[in-house]
Amino acid sequence: MDAAPVERVRLVTRSASETQALGRALMELLPEGALVALYGDLGTGKTCLVRGMAEAAGTAAHVTSPTFTLVHEYRGARTLYHLDLYRLTAPDQVLHLGYEDLFEPAEGVCVVEWAERADALLPPRRVDIRLSHEKGDVRRIEIENRGVLPAGWERRVATID
Ligand SMILES: Nc1ncnc2c1ncn2[C@@H]1O[C@H](COP(=O)(O)OP(=O)(O)O)[C@@H](O)[C@H]1O
Ligand SMILES: [Mg+2]
Repeated sequence: MDAAPVERVRLVTRSASETQALGRALMELLPEGALVALYGDLGTGKTCLVRGMAEAAGTAAHVTSPTFTLVHEYRGARTLYHLDLYRLTAPDQVLHLGYEDLFEPAEGVCVVEWAERADALLPPRRVDIRLSHEKGDVRRIEIENRGVLPAGWERRVATID
């Protein structure tokens, strides 16, 4: 199978609520079975983005980074699996824990913080999101669609409100 073409959008957010709104918009666009891989230092807003995704999934759960369990599951109208691999010391720990199935969920959507810790295990079809700090509350966010998001997604995420 040919690799899907990569489409890219770069944007900035200027507050946590803007990043959260981006997470909501994304979740509305993501099909069932999708994987979103998040990359970025501590405090760049990865969990904040996931909070928006969980909102759009229709769950009232309080979203925090899973630490000791590595995965949280939020169930609403849709299901969202939230992994944080920060504490992972070796990629094959994911295999030992049996989490690699979540990278291609049969139902729901999976979002992974610190995805680079499992890079070799990530399926090629996914959405990569890189977040970085700018001055103050500004965050630079680069979204790369690798064969997952529907046509027109670029316009939708560029006009979040
Ligand atoms: N534009 C922004 N987007 C996201 N978070 C922001 C933004 N500006 C400030 N913040 C703050 O940065 C922190 C991000 O934390 P968090 O989402 O837990 O980051 P991470 O999961 O990447 O470590 C929060 O305290 C949030 O209020
Ligand atoms: Mg986090």
